[in-house]
Amino acid sequence: MNSSTQASSTAARPLGVLAALPQELGDLIAVMQAESGVVTRTFGRRDYHLGTVHGAPCVVTLARVGKVAAAATASALIHVFDVDAIVFTGVAGGVGESVHVGDVVVGETLLQHDMNAEPLFPRHEIPLLARSRFDADHALADALAAACERFIAEEGLELAARFKAALPRLATELPQVHRGLVISGDQFVASAAAVGALRALLPDALAVEMEGAAIAQVCHEYDVPCAVVRTISDTADEHASTSFSSFLTDIAGTYSTGILKRFLAGYRPLAR
Ligand code: ADE
Repeated sequence: MNSSTQASSTAARPLGVLAALPQELGDLIAVMQAESGVVTRTFGRRDYHLGTVHGAPCVVTLARVGKVAAAATASALIHVFDVDAIVFTGVAGGVGESVHVGDVVVGETLLQHDMNAEPLFPRHEIPLLARSRFDADHALADALAAACERFIAEEGLELAARFKAALPRLATELPQVHRGLVISGDQFVASAAAVGALRALLPDALAVEMEGAAIAQVCHEYDVPCAVVRTISDTADEHASTSFSSFLTDIAGTYSTGILKRFLAGYRPLAR
């Protein structure tokens, strides 16, 4: 096989793109429909949408909520749809002191904050894998962070005008892009006490959600690159459920649409 046929067979492998809830996917499926048409395959009670989005061959699906759902979906993307890499998009609760509603967090490492097999294994360690933290792929995380920065530079003022009631902070400060630890667990965190306990145990945590570290574990086990981008919908305190619901309905799709448009337009399958 010469290098050009190698390149084209690599290019044919799709990128897996997933979110927990439909609002978190933005316009991806509509763009796919317009660009290439959509082939939908149903597997394990999920619909997987195959086609091209902003020039990138993709399999787009919804994991639903929680770590088991996320792990099952990531496994199907790898074994049934032979994806080249996996990118998760969605919302999260802000945990870091400087992480505000409307900011974006790109995961560098991911950890399951509810894993606790003490005293058999250290807190948070995944038994028999000898690790608690899973790395996102550096190149994917860099490309996602660059897409987030461009989205905010190009659409930040429009976001501020459009969402001024929900995001008054944007009147004086554009959203920030943070990179670092994202923590996942099968809990919607919604109290100052709970978020305080997470901060005490994991002082470097930036955001909490319910899927990312499960996907990162599956991708680690099968050597598939992955990355996670999360827009902050709430700060995991007593206001979290109201803030989450209105952010999800009104704003989350705008962020996913704007970030993924820029990310996918520049996406090239990773050399592996
Ligand atoms: N996703 C968005 N907000 C969240 C929160 N507060 N807890 C867990 N997952 C979330």
